[in-house]
Amino acid sequence: MSTAKLILDGREYEFPVVMGSEDEKGIDISSLRSGTTAITLDPGYGNTGSCVSDITFIDGERGILRYRGYPIDQVAQQADFVEVAYLLIYGTLPNQREFAAFKQQLTYHSLLHEDMKKFFEGYPPTAHPMAILSSMVASLSAYYPSADTEQNIDLNIVRLIAKAKTIAAFSYKKTIGQPFMYPRNELDYCSNFLHMMFAVPSEPYTVPPVTREALNLLLILHADHEQNCSTSTMRMVSSSKANLFASIAAGICALWGPRHGGANQKVIEMLEMIRRDGSDYEKYVGLAKDKDSNFRLMGFGHRVYKNFDSRATILKATAAKVLAQLGVQDPLLDIAKKLEEVALSDEFFIDKKLYPNVDFYSGIIYRALGIPTHMFTVMFALGRLPGWIAHWREMRQDPKNKINRPRQIYTGETERDFVPLDQRA
Ligand code: CMC
Repeated sequence: MSTAKLILDGREYEFPVVMGSEDEKGIDISSLRSGTTAITLDPGYGNTGSCVSDITFIDGERGILRYRGYPIDQVAQQADFVEVAYLLIYGTLPNQREFAAFKQQLTYHSLLHEDMKKFFEGYPPTAHPMAILSSMVASLSAYYPSADTEQNIDLNIVRLIAKAKTIAAFSYKKTIGQPFMYPRNELDYCSNFLHMMFAVPSEPYTVPPVTREALNLLLILHADHEQNCSTSTMRMVSSSKANLFASIAAGICALWGPRHGGANQKVIEMLEMIRRDGSDYEKYVGLAKDKDSNFRLMGFGHRVYKNFDSRATILKATAAKVLAQLGVQDPLLDIAKKLEEVALSDEFFIDKKLYPNVDFYSGIIYRALGIPTHMFTVMFALGRLPGWIAHWREMRQDPKNKINRPRQIYTGETERDFVPLDQRA
């Protein structure tokens, strides 16, 4: 095993170097503080590995993303989202029997407890569906208390994946004032969600195969992305031994922000603004470069990808295909492509290695499927659920799992005497 040396105040310390299966190197500094009294400082954690994990591999320099070793393009082309969920959570591709059983369970646990329907009455029609999803996922723990046997844990995992899509679809129905559509057991996961979103009781509804395929692909591409902000948040909460539903609800809240999953909503809002403003791409690329403008190109840049995001490449091609198949003409697709072209030939974006990320083209596909803009981040959350659950399960099973508790370098006042109120200036 190789080691890394640190010289601090003239003394030399040695730390083991941990190697990953893809030759990634990590300096194990777990004995740093006890040996030296010093800590590391890494705001934003860009250089910090918080765990070892077997789930997802990303090489941002080479644009590689693999789920349990399987390249994302192969998974995206060939798999069903439910299969991918099983793969991420349990580590292997399910055989036919396991797949059928998992699918059946996800179907039969789709119904919400009838009392939970009353929750929707309390939200204003303008409620953001991420507010509804996060609070209702946390509320599932009131109906399905913490489980301590493996079998019960698996049951809660199934309940969560099955019911989250029902919560998401009901939250949409609430905003448009339509009756809730109950899940139908003859439909697969994606079709069932689309049925609950778009069917009405007064007429038959058939899920268009193009729509189902596109949704399946979108969910797969969002299914996991190793230690991103929401997964790390979920792991942080789960490290206190909070239950599955509470931990995932925390992940959903972290996803909501526009630097993370909330970016897909912001991309469409930005493209609409550019369109209204005469499609002046140069102006907006210029604004994104101007540090004083506070404007960023949403859907561009990534902490890990410094070459291209393979998910964005797949989604760009899919957007054109799906729109053509559905006969939808969306001017935002052209605006997005031209904006990308202008940005990618600009020195600022080239130097800083800023490329379209997964959120840049996903919204254009969601729009074509009829999903409203304020639901986009909920769609990201539905896709990411298996990833969060896989990390929750991996962490729970790790015998070295400890409560996450970073330290800080204090930069505030040193000790001083308290001043009573009547003596303060
Ligand atoms: N537009 C303009 N400039 C940018 C952008 C952008 N979208 N992204 C990064 N930069 C600049 C930034 O100003 C900084 O410049 P400098 O070095 O001169 O200070 C440099 O590039 C590095 O940016 P950073 O913010 O330090 O990088 P980060 O790794 O901390 O942040 C990011 C990554 C994704 C938050 C950021 O690129 C961003 O805000 N992008 C827009 C929001 C977005 O699309 N988020 C979705 C991320 S992918 C899906 C997901 O994980 O949820």
